Amino acid sequence: MRTVTVALGSRSYPILIGEGALSKLGRQCTSAALGKRCAVITDTHVGPLFGSSALESLRKSGFDPVQITVPAGEKSKSLDVVSKCYDLMAAHRLERTAFVVALGGGVVGDLAGFVAATYLRGIAFVQVPTTLLAQVDSSVGGKVGVNLKAGKNLVGAFHQPRLVLCDLRTLSTLPDREFRAGLAEVIKYGVIFDAAFFEKLESNLPSLLRKSPKLLAEVVARCCEIKAEVVGQDETETGLRAILNFGHTIGHAIEAVFRYGAYLHGEAISIGQVAAAMLSSRMSTFPAADVERVRRLFEHVGLPTQITLGDSQWKKLEAAMRLDKKVSGGAVKFVLSERLGAASWGHPVPWDRVRAVLCETHGPSRPDPSGKQRLTKLFNSQAIRPQSSRTRRP
Ligand code: NAD
Ligand code: GLY
Repeated sequence: MRTVTVALGSRSYPILIGEGALSKLGRQCTSAALGKRCAVITDTHVGPLFGSSALESLRKSGFDPVQITVPAGEKSKSLDVVSKCYDLMAAHRLERTAFVVALGGGVVGDLAGFVAATYLRGIAFVQVPTTLLAQVDSSVGGKVGVNLKAGKNLVGAFHQPRLVLCDLRTLSTLPDREFRAGLAEVIKYGVIFDAAFFEKLESNLPSLLRKSPKLLAEVVARCCEIKAEVVGQDETETGLRAILNFGHTIGHAIEAVFRYGAYLHGEAISIGQVAAAMLSSRMSTFPAADVERVRRLFEHVGLPTQITLGDSQWKKLEAAMRLDKKVSGGAVKFVLSERLGAASWGHPVPWDRVRAVLCETHGPSRPDPSGKQRLTKLFNSQAIRPQSSRTRRP
């Protein structure tokens, strides 16, 4: 089992990564000195797959868990579902010494973390992420929250987990489309922080798409290391942490325009990251050739890299972007990359420039739920080679 530490002084915590880690949940909760009673919050897809293993492991170590199952999907990230969780926890008489286990993807993690941050003015929680996206990103760093009709993640808190347990085996039941969507956050770390990691992804993509256990463990661990490093330096996003939002301003707006339905988060930020790379090339020093490398990597994963919108959707996209938390004084602030492996934040970008890059056409534009697009590409290419010579390290 690999361990990555998020160093936050007295609130530091380990991220444990390995095959079969779920069976060690109880033992690890004991090591984290958590109270005896807990609520395992999960969803209708993950509960039947892993709920009993989680509960069994907890019981074996002497814990007294209750399971709360919410409907799978982004719509569960709502104040309505939060309120139902509070009611159930109160009905089970969970007290301040109790803790919450978030067993599921980013939706469950954000929701259950927010419940833990606010129930009885805050109780402890543990993240057991079961999607790639949640293992490499959302379970680490303590951002928890829910959506409002007006936009994504508009209500939330910073509440760090006491432990993150990534069982790589849980990824074997993850639908292929969800796995590929998670790769959008993986690629992001290469673009914003680690050029050598980006190159590794280019060279090893077919093995990664086949979920090679060794490679998967390395990739998840490297992403967690980068996230831990960034969060350790800037827990509450007063500066550096903003780089993790590369491609997210546009991505979140796309999700809102399509009412969190047509595009998965990873698909929306794939379009957002390609657009952000194009903006970086036009407004900063990001080489045009590397924009193509970024685009190609997303395309080879089978993720969408552009979008076609009607007039009213463009208006909605602009409005949604202006609601983003990164807006101040009316200007939408972007994360841009100067070169592969480096990024900076707080760049005001006029809406016309955003629209211009999104309007450029350069290939297939829709999410590909069937996976056919990816498979065709995979069979046509053994590995994706960078066109330029070795990239610089950050
Ligand atoms: P998700 O939680 O909706 O999970 C995707 C789907 O896969 C769901 O249907 C789920 O039930 C199912 N599933 C999960 N694990 C499974 C498994 N092992 N086997 C089979 N099915 C499984 O989506 P996600 O992509 O994990 O997370 C997206 C959410 O994460 C968004 O709400 C996004 O805003 C949030 N997010 C938060 C942060 C953060 O820092 N807090 C960062 C990135 C994204
Ligand atoms: N996913 C962005 C962050 O955690 O800051």
